[in-house]
Amino acid sequence: MASLPSLPSTPISQEYPKWTPDHALDLLFHPDIIPVQVRRELHPDLHIRPLSRTDYNRSHLAVLSILSVVTDPGLSAYQARFDLLRAAPRTNFTLVIIDKQSDQIVAVGSVFVEHKFLRGLGSVGHIEDIAVDPKVQGKKLGLRVIQALTGMSEKEGCYKTILNCSDKNIPFYEKCGYMKKENEMAKYNERPGSPKL
Ligand SMILES: CC(C)(COP(=O)(O)OP(=O)(O)OC[C@H]1O[C@@H](n2cnc3c(N)ncnc32)[C@H](O)[C@@H]1OP(=O)(O)O)[C@@H](O)C(=O)NCCC(=O)NCCS
Repeated sequence: MASLPSLPSTPISQEYPKWTPDHALDLLFHPDIIPVQVRRELHPDLHIRPLSRTDYNRSHLAVLSILSVVTDPGLSAYQARFDLLRAAPRTNFTLVIIDKQSDQIVAVGSVFVEHKFLRGLGSVGHIEDIAVDPKVQGKKLGLRVIQALTGMSEKEGCYKTILNCSDKNIPFYEKCGYMKKENEMAKYNERPGSPKL
């Protein structure tokens, strides 16, 4: 795996004894696709990387629960979902921001690349599941996650990157360079117990 551009010069084991570096993890995609500029903008105590197969143990689901209902599937079902996502190459990109002092996740986000037949076999990036730990909201981590996902979507050749959000988050996405366009439609599965969120 290629070396990362912005690793601290002090040996990691001394400065951040709990932190697990990328080379020791089983990652969802190659970390080089994450824009270097976003890495540079992060505080040195933070690290941005692809989701890892062991992030069940780094508060991934707890951070996601800020956004919506999360039920704990257990480690083996979590890892089966990870394997399913990784089996579709160049399609599912979930990244996380790690607090290196604790080796825990503080922000997450995903972009799903839809490979189309129209627009000259064009692709569209769909941003999903953005969440920042309330303890560190307002420190530009949400912005960095969106910048990274948008850059990755564009590096993958997507001609546009889109997302859905509530009215209250429109100003946040506008700060990230997005603009309101068209409407969302939804039809929920009426099967009993199916989420209506
Ligand atoms: C929405 C969320 C991702 C924003 O992340 P964050 O790290 O707190 O936001 P940032 O610090 O990166 O904000 C970037 C800019 O957007 C602004 N901003 C953030 N949230 C905002 C909001 N709800 N309304 C208005 N402006 C907002 C910030 O003030 C900042 O502006 P500035 O550059 O002028 O200082 C985060 O609050 C969150 O996880 N919320 C709960 C889950 C959620 O709603 N996710 C989005 C699903 S669509």
